[in-house]
Amino acid sequence: MSEGNESTTRRGQWSSRWGFILASAGCAIGLGNIWKFPYITGENGGGLFVLIYLGCIALIGLPIMLAEVLLGRATQKSPVGAYRDFSCKGSPWVIPGWIGVMTGFIILSYYSVVAGWALHYTWLSLQGGFSGMDAEQISSTFGSVFSNGTLNLGWHSAFMLMTVAVVIGGVRSGVERIARILMPLLFVMLLVLLGLAMQSDGFSEAFSFVFSPDASKLTRAGVLEALGHSFFTLSLGMGAMITYGSYLKKKEDIVSAVVVISILDTVIALVACLVLFPIIFSFGMEPKAGPGLVFVSLPIAFSQMAGGAVWATVFFALLVFAALTSAISMLEVVVSTIIDETRIKRTPATLLCGAAIYLFGIPSALSGTDGFAGEGFKKTTAVVFGEDQGKNWFDTFDYLASNWLLPLGGLMIAVFVAYRAGEAARRKGFEEGTRFQNLYVAWLLLLRYLVPIGVVAVLLHALKII
Ligand code: TRP
Repeated sequence: MSEGNESTTRRGQWSSRWGFILASAGCAIGLGNIWKFPYITGENGGGLFVLIYLGCIALIGLPIMLAEVLLGRATQKSPVGAYRDFSCKGSPWVIPGWIGVMTGFIILSYYSVVAGWALHYTWLSLQGGFSGMDAEQISSTFGSVFSNGTLNLGWHSAFMLMTVAVVIGGVRSGVERIARILMPLLFVMLLVLLGLAMQSDGFSEAFSFVFSPDASKLTRAGVLEALGHSFFTLSLGMGAMITYGSYLKKKEDIVSAVVVISILDTVIALVACLVLFPIIFSFGMEPKAGPGLVFVSLPIAFSQMAGGAVWATVFFALLVFAALTSAISMLEVVVSTIIDETRIKRTPATLLCGAAIYLFGIPSALSGTDGFAGEGFKKTTAVVFGEDQGKNWFDTFDYLASNWLLPLGGLMIAVFVAYRAGEAARRKGFEEGTRFQNLYVAWLLLLRYLVPIGVVAVLLHALKII
């Protein structure tokens, strides 16, 4: 089969089980692991938050990921078609499929802006990094990057172009090939940085910050955040794993693949913490720096370190790689749905979706400004979130998508596969290709009871109803 066929007649397919695992690990491992997880761990006081997060991954995230991959592989369709095939034509179950596609659209629009910061910081590091700058200058650099609309727009454009370029290449020669190159690189770079962090004075302090639970530091919102993030980091709740599963051959073992992907994702997130916090603590900085943690605290540390410019370049390039393989997955969901549902070919579909997402991301790129997307939107949303709690465009959509749309999307998938799908098709979808057929009942029980109850409880808790 020539790759050209992929865009015309034949649906793409991974070259092997490892092709799927690497592409999915690329999808899962992203800014969520390296930028977001460390800073929300810092904000939520470490230990206990991490523990709840691990629980969410194992008991809620993993079963849902399996449900998604199963649905994709069994139907060989992206989310909308997958929901349709497993219920019936005209079924309202296509609605969560479409909501998933919309969620991917929204997330990519602001994800690209953060990836743009990573590109900018890679560029700065290459030019000699932050050496010679003091803490004040470095933190004002971040502030001025965020409030510089033109700069953000430029990098947002560059990153979206890169993403589009890969997705146009198709499943095997675009998505899979880039993951095969970037993921091993990312692992190596992270290990090198871990080696560096382990030699620093702050390592043991960082280790106990990340691993010893302290109940006094966790809030109601923190529990929701742990759940929301477990969806975000595993790329669940919007059909990304349905889509990636749909490119899988029927003979592959999805049970073990899903376990490997989740473990890789979790290990990388924990290692990212063990890279960042020792460096942060060694230089006497606060773990609670928020979204600026990797863009402010870390560069400050790098500026004081021997060879700091090199380490900074390695770190920010790693962040770009992680972001790219994830962004690809979000665009792929939208594109693949358009291809399946309308028969538009891959190239025009990718250009169209890429352009639409790019446009929707422009206000995110401008969210640090005084204009409509920034201060203006804060005033508007203060009506919903409360006085002084207003969020700019970027924060509003991040909050909406990762804390609400993803858990709700995940809940829908779980309920759909657990209750609506036929037993025979579901069992076949699970058992095909795996040696772990005896786990079927345990998985179904989790999906039927623990997953829905857990997700609903956390959402009600966040709404202060329980
Ligand atoms: N998991 C990625 C990260 O951690 C982000 C991501 C990629 C994602 N695809 C997704 C999140 C689909 C939700 C849904 O950065």
